[in-house]
Amino acid sequence: MKKLENLDQFKSWAKEAGFIYPSSEIYGGFAAIYDYGHYGVLLKNNIQRAWEKSIVQNRNDVVQLDSGIYMHPKTWVASGHVGGFDDVLVEDKKTHKRYRADHLIEEWFAKKGDERSMDKKTAAELAEVIKTYNIKSPEGNDITEPRSFNLLVKSNLGTTDATFNDENVTYLRGETCQGIYLEYKNYIDTLRLKLPFGIAQVGKAFRNELVARQFVFRTREFEQMEMQYFHKPEDKQRLFEEWKNERMKWHIEEMGISSENLRFKEHDKLIFYATAAFDIEYNYRTLSGFKEVEGIHDRGDYDLTQHAKFSGEKLDYFDQETGERFVPHIMETSVGLNRTLMMVLEEAWTEEELINSNGEKDSRIVLKLKKSLAPIKVAILPLSKKPDLQAKALEVQNMIRKDYMTQYDETASIGKRYRRQDEIGTPYCVTIDFDTLNDNAVTIRERDTMKQERIVITELKQYLMEKFNI
Ligand code: GAP
Repeated sequence: MKKLENLDQFKSWAKEAGFIYPSSEIYGGFAAIYDYGHYGVLLKNNIQRAWEKSIVQNRNDVVQLDSGIYMHPKTWVASGHVGGFDDVLVEDKKTHKRYRADHLIEEWFAKKGDERSMDKKTAAELAEVIKTYNIKSPEGNDITEPRSFNLLVKSNLGTTDATFNDENVTYLRGETCQGIYLEYKNYIDTLRLKLPFGIAQVGKAFRNELVARQFVFRTREFEQMEMQYFHKPEDKQRLFEEWKNERMKWHIEEMGISSENLRFKEHDKLIFYATAAFDIEYNYRTLSGFKEVEGIHDRGDYDLTQHAKFSGEKLDYFDQETGERFVPHIMETSVGLNRTLMMVLEEAWTEEELINSNGEKDSRIVLKLKKSLAPIKVAILPLSKKPDLQAKALEVQNMIRKDYMTQYDETASIGKRYRRQDEIGTPYCVTIDFDTLNDNAVTIRERDTMKQERIVITELKQYLMEKFNI
């Protein structure tokens, strides 16, 4: 059994299989942006749905929001992103290839078996480390002095080119949670929410990532699934532990990730808004080890206090039971949808050796996805293109397509069609053959075991309901 080994293999497979394409290929490509193909979209939707189900549908204390990507530009001054949302860059003096200084140094130490973290170190601190250890680029060349770059993406929304300047610049949102803080007051006033409660949002975020050579792990446009849980300050310890456990459980049970491939990592140095932070890390083989997929942050009263200060609005909370007025604290869970999708694909992707029906050695790529995440749930395969079989197959598809994402495929041999469905993770293939026309039964093949069984069409709906546990 083989697993994906490196990013090049991952990228070319994801493209060939119709999950993820590099952006703007006909123009020579556009760095750090990717397009999701049919199966990528379906998988992404299923992951998002699983998150919403766990965070919103299965609870009574979390509601949803879809805020604008654009917000008043003061939002980003208040949040601290205009002043302090920076990455530090170095350049190879010979090849002019850019690197994030923290990553370059970490990799330099890792090669010596030293796992030290450069997380959140300033340009000056990183410069000191580079000097002390005489660190070079991966090609062995000298590197430039580390320099800070702001990650917010600027835009001229609402201005004409002639008047565009630093005073009227607007920003594409750098994290989705800011929209939640701006709507906090409306939610209290209109939905009459009482602490503790959460507001969840899924949407695009944009960052001017300087170095983005890690497929969909780090891109300039990406999707976040964020939940901000507003609570009394004295509850923070308990809530932090509860949310950490809740989120780890979600990755294991709902995303189907084995617990050995996941771990918590506590931040040793905190980003400006956080008073405590843990990452959930996944062991991405194609990125050579554990990397962050989700952040769980205790943001304290930082965000509401800042927005109250910059907007002049009162953003405190009146507790009717105790008669106290205070600024709620916020516990954040923030998971990247694209990083989650990359994790799920990597975990599920398997190449198996087998013996084919002629007794010869063969192999297949199979995506061992959880059934709930599979892009296509049932494939409908008429054995041949004979009109009677086509008609019967379409009749079967129409019977179940209301409840399941199906795919009709009549091209190539049945063996090839099974392989195609294995590669995109389809849990069940339903084959309509010549006997079907007489006995009104179909053959169902299961993805992981490849076992086949014969079922009468009138029992198919019940069979699938049991298998999908609906
Ligand atoms: N609101 C908190 C926040 O944005 P973050 O750690 O910067 O925290 C949260 O981002 C998550 O968003 C990360 O754990 C990661 O999954 C995802 N993410 C961040 N930057 C990304 C990028 N450039 N490309 C893809 N996903 C990214």
